[in-house]
Amino acid sequence: MQSIATTPRSDVDIFSEDVMAAPYPVFQQLRDAGPVVHLDRFGVYAVPRYQQARDVLADWESFSSADIAFNNDFNEYMSDFSILRSDPPLHDAMRNTLAAKLARRALREQEPAISRRAKDIVGRLVEQGSFDAVTDLARRFPVEIVGDLIGLPEDGREDLLRMVDANFNCFGPDNERTRASLPRRAELADYMRVSVTRENLAEGSMGRAVYEAADAGAIPAQAAPWLVMAYVTAGMDTTVHALGHAVWLMAEHPDQWELLRTDRSLVPPAFREVLRYESPVQAFGRTVRTDWTVEEDVTLPAGTKLAVLFGSANRDERRWPDPERFDVTRDNIGHLAFGYGLHGCAGQALARIEGEAILNALLDNVTRIEADAPVRHFNNVLRGLESLPVTVFTD
Ligand code: HEM
Repeated sequence: MQSIATTPRSDVDIFSEDVMAAPYPVFQQLRDAGPVVHLDRFGVYAVPRYQQARDVLADWESFSSADIAFNNDFNEYMSDFSILRSDPPLHDAMRNTLAAKLARRALREQEPAISRRAKDIVGRLVEQGSFDAVTDLARRFPVEIVGDLIGLPEDGREDLLRMVDANFNCFGPDNERTRASLPRRAELADYMRVSVTRENLAEGSMGRAVYEAADAGAIPAQAAPWLVMAYVTAGMDTTVHALGHAVWLMAEHPDQWELLRTDRSLVPPAFREVLRYESPVQAFGRTVRTDWTVEEDVTLPAGTKLAVLFGSANRDERRWPDPERFDVTRDNIGHLAFGYGLHGCAGQALARIEGEAILNALLDNVTRIEADAPVRHFNNVLRGLESLPVTVFTD
């Protein structure tokens, strides 16, 4: 058996701006080094390849999510009622409550309205000709759509992304970015406590439904505010980053845009390809519960902390032919951008509806997209853009 001392190690800081600006060569090095690589600076093992990442995500009984963040303070701060950290049976009760409103079937009646609103916002921007695809589009659409579905009050929505971004930073290690985010994370907690009360959530909304599930005894009463918090935190920035990347990748790959223009059935695989190619969630933690034999000669003992690298797994050449090629026609159903298994994204149907609605609205009007160099947004666990000036053409 290969001992831990001889498993590959790396001194790389995956949370540094240098790496985040150009993560893919680093991910490649980690994948080349082995199926698990000790990240010396953080005391965790990176899981950079597709197969092991999927295996870990698939098996909650062997890999706990209790320490999903890379610093203990945040793990302790998050309640046991955080769905992301929880195990069955509590997890399943909370998850069923969300799924009732987030399943594709349940969302079907919302689809026409979401598509209309995508056409409205895109139509206005296309008339302008030039706009910022992040600040004018990607940051506005999910806050409107998800905010209304959750039933959030209008007041305070303008600060939401800032606060949720800080919350995601707090999943990182104890670094400068995490520490600088603590005040805004506290603002988010205040906002949830003061503004997102049961009474302030719109009648008939997803948020209200969570409280009604608690009334019916489906989930413990204390879980209700945490579940509403899960909607708010999980459902916004992730989609913002997906939309920003979608516009950027379409501008960078006019041949792929042309394919979409001639065949709209490629829109769903195109949005999946955006998620595979630039995964909005880059890393989450797991803890090995019982000794894990990674390969014949590599075993990690119970208690070992892992960093599942979603963005690296989605570029793994062992899984994806020519992974660096952005290809809207590839078979990409197995991408891991939404995670996998028990904790796999509860809002993926909604995210897909939003992403496809925006792509379709652009396709209705736009023949070509030209983009200036994007400004990258840095977050400990998310990958996204801060700004993307574009000009769209309709000839
Ligand atoms: C493109 C957009 C999105 C991406 C890339 C994304 C990604 C993810 C990932 C990777 C996980 C798995 C976490 C883990 O394994 O530990 C997750 C979980 C989750 N997501 Fe999403 N998400 C997106 C949009 C949404 C939306 C729109 C909502 C809801 C409105 C949402 C709600 C959730 C919830 C509640 C969980 C926790 C599920 C559980 O623990 O059972 N997400 N998401």
